[in-house]
Order: sequence, then C-alpha cells, then structure tokens
Amino acid sequence: MIKIAIMGYGTIGSGVAEVLEQNRDVIAKQAGQEVELKYVLDLREFPDSPVADRIVHDFKVIEQDEEINIVVETMGGLNPAYPFVKACLLAGKHVATSNKALVAAYGTELLAVAREKGVNFLFEASVGGGIPIIRPLYRCLMGERIEEITGILNGTTNFILAKMDKEGESFENALKEAQNLGYAERNPEADVEGHDTCRKIAILTAMATGREVNFEDIYTEGITRITDIDFKYAEKMGTSVKLFGSSRMAGGKVNAFVAPVMIQKNNPLYSVNDVFNGIMVKGNMLGTSMFYGSGAGKLPTASAVVADIIEAAQNLERSLAVGWSSEKQAIESMDLARFRYFVRVAGSYRNKEEDIKRIFGKVEVVELYGMDEFAVLTAEMSEGEFKAAAVAYDSAEQARSDYGIKQMIRAMI
Ligand code: HSE
Repeated sequence: MIKIAIMGYGTIGSGVAEVLEQNRDVIAKQAGQEVELKYVLDLREFPDSPVADRIVHDFKVIEQDEEINIVVETMGGLNPAYPFVKACLLAGKHVATSNKALVAAYGTELLAVAREKGVNFLFEASVGGGIPIIRPLYRCLMGERIEEITGILNGTTNFILAKMDKEGESFENALKEAQNLGYAERNPEADVEGHDTCRKIAILTAMATGREVNFEDIYTEGITRITDIDFKYAEKMGTSVKLFGSSRMAGGKVNAFVAPVMIQKNNPLYSVNDVFNGIMVKGNMLGTSMFYGSGAGKLPTASAVVADIIEAAQNLERSLAVGWSSEKQAIESMDLARFRYFVRVAGSYRNKEEDIKRIFGKVEVVELYGMDEFAVLTAEMSEGEFKAAAVAYDSAEQARSDYGIKQMIRAMI
C-alpha cells in the first residue's frame, strides 16, 4: 500500500480526495497497489468532510512521516507551497502539483532537487487542467522537434471573450457573469491580464526546449482593452478574437507572447469556446496536433493530479526524465514577432486613405455602418515595423488636430 498526503483541501485538493475514492479500484490496478490518503494538510477543519479524521495542521507531520511516499500540493501560490514542496523532495518524497505559479517560478530548482534525490516532481495539472499536455510532451512527442505551441490556456478569459463574441456582451458584463458562475475570481487580474496564461506558456516552452524559461521574459497582454465594437468588426470579417499563449521555436530561437489575437474560422483554435482550453502543438515530423478539453474545474484537474500520483507510484525508485535543465532559454524581443494587424482608426476612410496607404502600405479596409471610424487589416510585418508605422500615423493625424489609432489587435490570418 502507498500512503500519500494532500497539502491544501480547496477545490482541487478535495477533488483529488474524491477521485482517489471514486476510482479506487482502477487507481490501485494502475499503481500496482492500493493508494491510501493518510493526511490532508490545511489550516481549516473540515468536520463534515470524508477526510475529517485525516486533517493535520502541522506540515512537519507529513515531512517527517517515512510512510508517506507521495505528496500532492494543491495549495496554490508560492508561500508556503514552495518551501513545503522543496522540503518534501529533500525528504525523498515524490510530489505532484497543480500549481502553475510554483512550477513557472521554481520549477527548475524543484526539478533539480527531485533528480538529485531520485524522486519525481510532476505537474500535469498545472497546464490545461484535465487536458493531457505535459505527459504527451515528455512521452509521446519525445522524438519530435517542437516548432510551435499555441493555445487557449485560460478558461475564464475564453468564457468572457466567447460571451462578447456570441452574445455581444461588453467586457464588464461578461466578466460579471463569469464571476457569478464562479469561473472568475473576485480579483480577476491573474486571468484577465494574461498572467495565468503567461505562466502556462512558459512551462510549455520549457518542456519543448528542455531549457529554463523565465516567464517574465514573455510579452504579456490581457483582454481588458478588447471591446464589443471589436467583435462587431470581427463578425463582419468572419473572424474571432481569442487570448493566445504562443511559442515558436526555430534554430534555437524562441518567440513567445501572450495576447488577444484575431483568427479566422479555419484556425483549429477558432471553435474552442466557453471555459474550454485548446492547445495546438506543431512538431517537425508530427505536423499539427490538437489537445482539447476542460482546462480547469475540480474533477478534471484532480484527475490529472491523480495520473501523476499513479506515475510516481509506478516509478517509486527512479527519477523520470521530465522537465528541463537549468540552462536558460533566451526569448526573442517582441519587436521581432510578425503578425498582420487589425487597426481601428478614427474618421472616415475616404479622408484618411492617403495617409493609411503611405504609412501602412497595402491594407484591407473594413467599415461598419453608422460609425465615425473604420478598420484596416495590414499585411504581415514585424511588431517593430508596426509600432513605427503607428507612431508615424498618429503624428500625421495630430498635426491636423485629428484623432488617430483607436485600437490594435494582432491577427494570425
Ligand atoms: N483561472 C484558470 C482558468 C484556472 O480560468 O483557466 C486554471 O488554471
């Protein structure tokens, strides 16, 4: 029998306890022995829960119990998750975590400690919730050169954008609805500002390159400036706007970003709606593969944690080749990334055509009825070239005491 502990009895932690109970027989069969939950660490008591008799408040009980082989970390955040996880690994215990903040910030060190101690630090649930993506990267796709990973990696923002797209909601109303349904936190910053997606694409990029990726090096923009008007143009153009985390790898160089992107119906991520996540992986031999499913939620995420528990149980005596080294992966400047640009401009195209053509070159023009503005879709150019053109256009307009660019959304069309 393998004895395990869960640290943090919140949504995911209680989900792990539930999956362990409900799928007891299948888990025992896969793990090769019964998996018994011995402790649940939390500051709170849960007198009416099925784990009431296993609640402990002192981390040392887990750290010092030699019977505990595997520890699940579902506390979230960095403190005390980081010191607790490190102490568990140092004590020779395997760790499975759902905590992307922990993996993105301290993954390199924790992976190194795990290797040194001959145990495993596993984190399938940290990206894409219940969607298998970490294990496919280190198992099924291990013979591939990964060229691109682009995904909708955050369910909350995808729900908000889908509401704006399909129901014409404003950002504020769609966010309120997401909060009422329990998808968005009261403080939604980590989701809507793109920080959650940034950590996830940093983890996936590190998995793909085998090197440490500093998430702070990844250009990150959220969805707070996307409006219902943008979706009116998108509808006319047969496009949609999605929050992408994306990484392209070629010749040792990596371009990575998090930003809202305009895409067409033929993009495999176009139909990923509501709280679902979708991750597109392109390998040099594989071509394109799509991973789709529940990117968050209690039982889907807990299911991924339980798969890590089983993986650790099957490999109690060896450290698997999972993760990345401490060698640093440089991320190219966002100025070098290439997109087409959807740009909304004040005034009428008839009056601005000359400046637009002179500064942006060939563009496609989109006009909505009854608006004192128009939009253009530029040809592909680098972000640096676009910024220079935008500054030139705004200066030309200001010189005539006129308004310039109102909105810009990168387009992968
Ligand atoms: N807030 C995250 C999301 C939870 O909406 O996807 C899963 O990481």
